[in-house]
Amino acid sequence: MKLSVIGCGYLGAVHAAAMASIGHEVVGIDVDERKIDALSSGEAPFFEPGLPEILSAGIASGNLRFTTDIAEAKGARVHFIGVGTPQQRDGDAADLTYVDAAVDALLPHLTSGDIVAGKSTVPVGTAAQLALRVEATGATLVWNPEFLREGWAVQDTIDPDRLVVGVSDASTGSAAGRSGGVSRPSTGLGSAGGSSAADAADVLREVYHPAVTKGTPFIVTDLATAELVKVAANAFLATKISFINAMSEIAEVTGADVTQLADAIGHDARIGRRFLGAGIGFGGGCLPKDIRAFSARAEELGRSESVSFLREVDAINLRRRERAVHLVVDAFEGNVVGKNITLLGAAFKPHSDDIRDSPALDVAVRLKGLGAEVTVTDPEALENARRQHPQLNYVDDRDEALRGADAVIVVTEWDEYRRELSPEHAASLTAGTIVVDGRNCLDAAAWREAGWTYYGMGRP
Ligand code: UGA
Repeated sequence: MKLSVIGCGYLGAVHAAAMASIGHEVVGIDVDERKIDALSSGEAPFFEPGLPEILSAGIASGNLRFTTDIAEAKGARVHFIGVGTPQQRDGDAADLTYVDAAVDALLPHLTSGDIVAGKSTVPVGTAAQLALRVEATGATLVWNPEFLREGWAVQDTIDPDRLVVGVSDASTGSAAGRSGGVSRPSTGLGSAGGSSAADAADVLREVYHPAVTKGTPFIVTDLATAELVKVAANAFLATKISFINAMSEIAEVTGADVTQLADAIGHDARIGRRFLGAGIGFGGGCLPKDIRAFSARAEELGRSESVSFLREVDAINLRRRERAVHLVVDAFEGNVVGKNITLLGAAFKPHSDDIRDSPALDVAVRLKGLGAEVTVTDPEALENARRQHPQLNYVDDRDEALRGADAVIVVTEWDEYRRELSPEHAASLTAGTIVVDGRNCLDAAAWREAGWTYYGMGRP
């Protein structure tokens, strides 16, 4: 099928390449010329395992191309919108500028019967508003949220654990407008010559044929539900992490061990152990901004109390970064001025070079602010980190970064640190033997045995 993907950032670039890899003819479109040049030559503009391979294969097969010319979207059966929805500069709400601009640019090139499939994470009610504009052209708008995890983005796109398609149709009920609570009648899809909602869902089934054939749950909802599924999923994940981090805070004043607690409650299948990793908390381009945008949207809808716990989720999360800093400061009896502190990690999580809202870098910057000499290393994220925080010292080689350190803090649980770094080897390089395990990923007993003073998060 001919597909266009508008927006070639994390979501869009992966989506375009993944769709080409399952046999579609895809054009990826973005306003950023540098990004398009890189992608056109098979180069991924960010670190994502497996992406360079499917990019090159797609380009070589002729199934995948990239352009800055939106007019080249013409002729595609489905147009995916995958542009960013960052947090607004002066508030918590999502900035929809890029979504609005992408849809506006696309409108003149739509043909009756086309499908516009929104993938960006948007405040509930956005799709219903966009549908008015899209459907005036005879095209159909559906909302098809994305659940990919950075680091597993290719696999998550080709083989997701569920597919959700929101359609605006009388049979699924109408959606609330962006201003909140206002229902609008069904737009009577099909009457303008476009696909019916059911047809649109079927076209999406065809797009995702390998997953659908495999029996992946394919859930058709109304637009509002599809938008909410996405933010609800991220809100739940963030809440799960902050829950266990709240337990860390209690563990810290009672002498309990939060990792054992997580193991024990995680055995209950209703709870589950995943996303109960206590530490310096969540960051990245999604969870933090999504819970804030959700709170802001709930407030607009007059339901701020329904998700007021998300403010607490955010606050707990940010406190854990502060806690890691306190552990280091306390280890030096209140003064880190001039101390050489090495941070293992800069990315917001392993298998990524993404430093957006990275807890790792936040801890690094705070320690630098307290007068420490901070050295940061990371297998993938140093270039991005250097650009954003030039005041820190960056060293590519892990062992070089450790040399002469008075204290070591693990802030991103790359295998290079949690599995491949022995405490004896680390001790042979550093000047001091203080280690703060910001991700509770080290073998505490082994590090202590090798002479280190080990501090975990929520652990005695
Ligand atoms: C998240 C969701 O997991 C995806 O399902 C979603 O599609 C994506 O956002 C998105 O909205 O695009 P991602 O941002 O790639 O994916 O990262 P996660 O794997 O969710 O990790 C988020 C943060 O939580 C990281 O900083 C990680 O270190 C932290 N985390 C994760 C913990 O602190 N503890 C845990 O137990 C798990």
